[in-house]
Amino acid sequence: MKIIQAKDYAGMSRKAANIVSAQIILFPNSVIGLATGSTPLGVYHQLVEWYRKDDLDFSKIRTVNLDEYSGLSPEHEQSYRYYMNQNLFRDVNIPMESTHLPNGMAQDYEAECKRYDQLITDLGGIDLQLLGIGHNGHIGFNEPDQAFDKTTHRVILNQRTIEANTRFFRNKEEVPKYALTMGIKAIMQARKILLVVSGADKAEILRRAMMGPITPSVPASIIQLHPDVTIVADEAALGRISLS
Ligand code: F6R
Repeated sequence: MKIIQAKDYAGMSRKAANIVSAQIILFPNSVIGLATGSTPLGVYHQLVEWYRKDDLDFSKIRTVNLDEYSGLSPEHEQSYRYYMNQNLFRDVNIPMESTHLPNGMAQDYEAECKRYDQLITDLGGIDLQLLGIGHNGHIGFNEPDQAFDKTTHRVILNQRTIEANTRFFRNKEEVPKYALTMGIKAIMQARKILLVVSGADKAEILRRAMMGPITPSVPASIIQLHPDVTIVADEAALGRISLS
């Protein structure tokens, strides 16, 4: 596990974007796993800036996102498809058909989960998976206390996640109660993992994920077992970990 410390959120975003850029430059047809949420926004904005300077070419890149809310259409402003379009896809030269998210509108969600797993297999697996971490240790929407061996599945979002996401909706009632998420198994099969973490409010869960026991009660702790993990975190997020 490599830990890269950045001074603050902007520094974390640039350092993580450098790692994603290196992947794109060295392996232009990479499959990149993407995350949403507030933490990777700076990474995406940096990538767009470098694309505009002609430093990056996304034309052969394929992307698979970790998750999508159930019941939100791609046009819904809080859907993850909308977020990805707004914050990355529409601003770079990636063909839209090379960008993939679970279909939150699928009625038959079990078939949709199977389709998504098959899609990842057909793409040849994920070369670099970008992750954020929830305050309860979730990665993707893999909430605490679920089996580690799951593939893409539908989850009932727990109260803490619903509360954390309420800031993006008009009220708590509007926050979807279900989501489709890539499972821990697919995340662990990615060839490289890049976890981005910012802020003192994530310091304790980052410590538990990195140094605590590997346990389903902290889903992110499983990445301790992955052979190629890089964590880029700012000083505040690393506040409970001694790096010496
Ligand atoms: C979203 C996702 C989530 C977030 C996590 C942290 O695709 O995978 O696991 O990474 O909820 O969200 P932020 O960055 O908003 O704190």
